[in-house]
Amino acid sequence: MIDEMTTVLEPAPMTDFVETKYIKDVTNRALCYIKAGFPVHFRGPSGTGKTTLAMHIASKIKRPVVMIHGDEEFTTSDLVGGEHGYRVRKVVDRFISRVLKTEEDMVKRWVDNRLTVACKYGFTLIYDEFTRSRPEANNILLSILQEKMMDLPVGRGGEDPYLRVDPDFTAIFTSNPEEYAGVHRSQDALRDRMITMDLDYFDYDTELAVTRAKSKLSRQDSRIIVNIVRGLRESGKCEFAPTVRGCIMIAKTLKVQNLTPVRASNMFMQMCQDILASETSRVGSKTNQDRVKDIVSELVAKELGTRKNINIPLRAGKADGILSQEEVESLVGAK
Ligand SMILES: Nc1ncnc2c1ncn2[C@@H]1O[C@H](COP(=O)(O)OP(=O)(O)OP(=O)(O)O)[C@@H](O)[C@H]1O
Ligand SMILES: [Mg+2]
Repeated sequence: MIDEMTTVLEPAPMTDFVETKYIKDVTNRALCYIKAGFPVHFRGPSGTGKTTLAMHIASKIKRPVVMIHGDEEFTTSDLVGGEHGYRVRKVVDRFISRVLKTEEDMVKRWVDNRLTVACKYGFTLIYDEFTRSRPEANNILLSILQEKMMDLPVGRGGEDPYLRVDPDFTAIFTSNPEEYAGVHRSQDALRDRMITMDLDYFDYDTELAVTRAKSKLSRQDSRIIVNIVRGLRESGKCEFAPTVRGCIMIAKTLKVQNLTPVRASNMFMQMCQDILASETSRVGSKTNQDRVKDIVSELVAKELGTRKNINIPLRAGKADGILSQEEVESLVGAK
């Protein structure tokens, strides 16, 4: 197999992928645009499922996938290819049997990079967070997307300086909004050549389904977590809104400890505070962390209280934070 093929991924559906109505809708719309020959661009805040959706759509297209992650340090040659290493050529001349004449030289060896491979073989390109690369590195995409021609650097050799893009080539882009750190403004010309779909945080059902699928926690307990995270997000008081990743982290931690929010209310509270304060604040922003912790403790109290219609003494619990079955029953009035 040629070297360049080693970066190609087989499109396979994700095992714990959930397809709610929202996900199906976005997927179908994106596939329509792709079918009409347009590249699709998912733009949205962190944790809105852009990368996962791009992979899912690529698996529906059923062509091999080439993935690139945008990078500030990228140059065009990181996308297209370059002269990496040397090839040694040796000529052995035995024209006159008693005289052995050898000639050795080194030629620079061109290696196609992922973008060239995708264009040449008609693969699906996922260019994740493409606005993290500097705009000039991405210029090569303008002619690929519009004229379906790739302008190749001279060093590559071959008779034609252009590569005709295979008709099966498809491109899916993702990006974070421009206010994110380390993100460049995408060029207008490039954005104009793709269909941008703005994604927002998941709807309730999707967030719950993703949390459950990723953690295997019960529906009831996942609900409590999703309500808390969404409550914090909707409070509008965070530096960065908490994402579904926060739900997954809390749910997975509970699951591995084999705990439930009610059985370990104090520990659950601490977990929510740690995870959500760290997710929503920049390092060192103590005021913001404290504010988030306060909101989280209110939300946890409300969730645990409302659900059982009781007021669990959150701060006055046992040292380990775990209530016995008896204590819980007495709190809910069963005893
Ligand atoms: N449909 C889905 N089914 C199962 N899990 C999902 C689904 N969509 C997203 N997830 C999970 O949600 C989390 C966030 O998704 P993803 O990484 O795709 O978001 P993103 O928008 O690319 O975020 P970022 O901008 O930070 O890269 C991941 O853990 C991912 O596995
Ligand atoms: Mg992503």
